[in-house]
Amino acid sequence: MIVAANFKTNNTREYTKTYIDALVNSDARDEIYIFPTFTSLSNAKAPSNVKVGAQNFYPVQNGSFTGEIGQDQLDEFNIKCVLIGHSERRHVLNESEELIKEKYEFAMKNGWKIFYCIGESKEVRESGKVIEYLKNQLSYIDINYENLIVAYEPVWAIGTGISAELKDIDETLNALRELTDKPLLYGGSVKGSNAKEIFSLKNCDGVLVGSASWKIVDFQKILNETN
Ligand code: PGA
Repeated sequence: MIVAANFKTNNTREYTKTYIDALVNSDARDEIYIFPTFTSLSNAKAPSNVKVGAQNFYPVQNGSFTGEIGQDQLDEFNIKCVLIGHSERRHVLNESEELIKEKYEFAMKNGWKIFYCIGESKEVRESGKVIEYLKNQLSYIDINYENLIVAYEPVWAIGTGISAELKDIDETLNALRELTDKPLLYGGSVKGSNAKEIFSLKNCDGVLVGSASWKIVDFQKILNETN
């Protein structure tokens, strides 16, 4: 299984190091990805089945983009894996589809592994047009890119403690499978208590975890459910 931890704006450099060190005995069959804060990247020397990625970047080598980091900075830490299109970047930081597309193309050109996040709002779910909406989000990117992982994360399930219904996750992942053979993750209030049933879904290749990944004990509960 692919199990990814998105620290968002949490954890210090010191705790991130302790956390990654604690993953040294994790099941080698799982692919684990940690997305720490930028300030913790230097401490993130990971065991071999643990990869460290960047939560964000600006699609340039370097330049005048105050507050952003580019490829030169990611290269310093040998970062080859990025999150793109996360709901908080889209809806809190108002990132446009154009910028998301630019980031995607930049990452693709560099051969980076891309976790591309898509997901509908509550209104879209209630309108019954979820698949059309997700298809549109996928239409901006090259879904044949070999290093793509698609993370389906309904906006209303992120950080709320309320995961989507298992049947809805199942249906949505099955519909996405019709569109792509790339790994499909679910994200949105995944935790130790619901991870097993999510992992058991036919087209689920893993999970992207926010809140329940911030403390190593909670993340390990999820890792314990992968087999
Ligand atoms: P959550 O966040 O697990 O706290 O819902 C998921 C995400 O933002 O990827």
